[in-house]
Amino acid sequence: MKTTDIQHLDTFTSDILDGLRQNPKRLPSKYFYDAEGDKLFQQIMRMPEYYLTDAEYEIMEMHKDSILKSIGCQAFDLVELGAGDGYKTKVLLQYLLEQNVDVRYCPIDISKHVLQQLETSLQNDLPELAFNCLQGDYFDMLNELHYRSEVPKIILFLGANIGNMRPPDAQAFLKEIQKNMSHNDRLIVGFDLKKDPQIILDAYNDPAGITAAFNLNILTRINKELGANFNIDLFKHWEIYNPLTGAAKSYIISKIDQDVFIPDANQVISFTAWETIEVELSQKYSLADIDVLAHKSGLTTINRLRDHKKYFVDIIFQKS
Ligand code: AVI
Repeated sequence: MKTTDIQHLDTFTSDILDGLRQNPKRLPSKYFYDAEGDKLFQQIMRMPEYYLTDAEYEIMEMHKDSILKSIGCQAFDLVELGAGDGYKTKVLLQYLLEQNVDVRYCPIDISKHVLQQLETSLQNDLPELAFNCLQGDYFDMLNELHYRSEVPKIILFLGANIGNMRPPDAQAFLKEIQKNMSHNDRLIVGFDLKKDPQIILDAYNDPAGITAAFNLNILTRINKELGANFNIDLFKHWEIYNPLTGAAKSYIISKIDQDVFIPDANQVISFTAWETIEVELSQKYSLADIDVLAHKSGLTTINRLRDHKKYFVDIIFQKS
């Protein structure tokens, strides 16, 4: 199949084919999250080795008053990009309601399913909260809010989701958000910090094999959605962490020489033994790395909040 032939295919199919035709092969980690991937990610967040969730939860719990002070006003829209189940954000929301802050929560997510679940849990857990779920692309929705709302926006991008972008893409992403911000707006971003490499490796290479199952599920998804015949047992998960660059990378490795057929695209993908597919980057940052990133994106740090182990940081930015 020629490169031009994949243009008429839907985005999922063309992204998968495009990635598997590269050398080295790669697959976008955003495709981890089908119904099964969502379930496995929930399990990851409850694993003792995956310290990120607990660390950021602790930050929300311990520093909620400091967050409110840095926001600097009593009426705003709290806009969350990729809210997930809202587990950590609810701590802050609960506090804002207790402080009689006039807050409207606006979670933005591409997945209707995720937003429906979040809506139900918000109605149960925080019945007095005003909220408005927005389904769609982050920037389209931010732009819409920019024109529709009179009050400042506090934009949350938590959970080290920024780490799943290559640093130049993270910079472009922050710059795009910055362009959508006014001077009273704030941006709060969760970054996973550089730390003992063993702790990082353990978080992405748990002995129970949940992360391995999460990563390999992308092959199962390709089987389900494109009729492919990946034999999952003939692939393995592999994690590396480079303490110099801060890049934690997940690979899927073929254990043998093999061909995989993708009938929906009439395509055979050949693997040699021990050939890799790069599936995910989870970038770790130092505080100095974040300062550089912020500066290049036109953002100024107004507050830095870390958990007691200094594993994770939430940074509150304003437009420079
Ligand atoms: C969603 N994201 C921030 C997670 C991370 O840590 O990179 C995804 C993940 N991959 C394996 N474990 C968790």
